[in-house]
Amino acid sequence: MTSDIIKKFQEAKLLVNNNAYSEIKGNDDYDYLITELIKYIEENENDQYIITTKTIRNYQEHERQRIHESIIENPKTKEIRENLEMPYDIILDVTNKSYTDGDIEDLNKYFNNRYEKLRKIIEQNPEFNKVTDIKNTKTKLESLDIIGIVNSVNSTKNGHKILELEDPTGTGTVLVMKDNEDLINDCQTILKDEIIGIDGSSNGNLIIANDIVHPGIQRQSIVDKPMDFSIVFISDVHIGSKQFDESAFNKFIKWLNGNYGGEDQQELANSVKYLVIGGDLVDGIGVYPNQEKELKIKDIYEQYEEAARLLGDISDIPIILSPGNHDATRLAEPQPAITEKYAKELCEQKNIEMVSNPSLVNLDGIKVLVYHGRSFDDIVMAINGYTHADTDNMMRLLLEKRHLAPIYGERTALASEFEDYHVIEELPDVLHTGHVHINSYAKYKGIHLLNSGTFQEQTEFQKIYNIVPTCGQVPILTNNKFKLLNFRDD
Ligand SMILES: [Fe+2]
Repeated sequence: MTSDIIKKFQEAKLLVNNNAYSEIKGNDDYDYLITELIKYIEENENDQYIITTKTIRNYQEHERQRIHESIIENPKTKEIRENLEMPYDIILDVTNKSYTDGDIEDLNKYFNNRYEKLRKIIEQNPEFNKVTDIKNTKTKLESLDIIGIVNSVNSTKNGHKILELEDPTGTGTVLVMKDNEDLINDCQTILKDEIIGIDGSSNGNLIIANDIVHPGIQRQSIVDKPMDFSIVFISDVHIGSKQFDESAFNKFIKWLNGNYGGEDQQELANSVKYLVIGGDLVDGIGVYPNQEKELKIKDIYEQYEEAARLLGDISDIPIILSPGNHDATRLAEPQPAITEKYAKELCEQKNIEMVSNPSLVNLDGIKVLVYHGRSFDDIVMAINGYTHADTDNMMRLLLEKRHLAPIYGERTALASEFEDYHVIEELPDVLHTGHVHINSYAKYKGIHLLNSGTFQEQTEFQKIYNIVPTCGQVPILTNNKFKLLNFRDD
């Protein structure tokens, strides 16, 4: 058994036993590990001459401690934070609000609730307050307004569009003429199961559309809310994955604790009052076939223990933690908050507030709607020309549709609750999403649309599809302005 590994240890007058040898050899960057181990032994265990797996454990623990000490909150930052008020309240959290047993009546109740909520919003449009039931559109009518759920969107051979709409009274067929370019364009992004209004006429058989009305955003004025502090947004940390970039994450926490970067960066850190985590804190287990090969930590409890160890260094600001599709909670949305069954230490951490996905929180006057973003998978499949990098456009669409996951029955598992919690009833100041691992920022009608990227380096799957994640880049909203910090070395 001679190899460069053994040689390197021999040069430092060290031996290595079989188990330690296998472990070192299995490390992706074993050259670095050997150098570090030799240095560790010289400085801390210089009476040792055989490297065992225990030596490796001791080295790892020593490293952890060293990093922890460099991360813990700067006394100046601590003092500043002690004098800051950090009020928050949870406006919408669906945890413990799940009553469905999934029978067909529940599905009807669910869609009726979606319809009623969105109809109310559409009816706030002053030009849309006399709505005709679809069952009463089967005669000639010169002018009518209907509100319905979209069952299908199809094109005719001649380039017209046909929409099948349904309301609680019946179904109707809507014709959108090809020469009405604006409406034809609008039809490109209409999704199955969303609720829309149609202003038009009826020839007794077909409803001819003059206008398509979305619930949308009606605001008297768009003025930024007063904000003299910062909120940090992250998601898709994927702790437990081999691709989790722990070094970038540690630098991020070091910055948050006032110990990293120049004066400007420290000042920015000192203004942070909240951290929002938008799902996929851990990589989970059994999320996709053969995931095990990609896992560094193969046990879900240990993944959350590791998460608690890493987040444990953030002590003086509230952390709002919402789950994603990799977390240990019900997969069907709305997802209840992560509980102590899987994440005991996180639940015990005093400054962590576990909330559902989606949820709406008020952070000292700034309303943040947190949604992990699973529905982006369905939207990308449904709309031509959209990719996972187009989250800003997709978030605009969701706001216009006033629904976070319109398409039912595809990849986004939606629990047919009595109430549809994905309807955006109350408009937020910030819409925070994740899931696609590519950050984005836009402002739309006064609302900050923000996707927070990831701390997971490119995976094998992403390599195949040429998806380049924005790893280690963290968006911050500071005094209503967007900033992006990079914690990667490259
Ligand atoms: Fe995700």
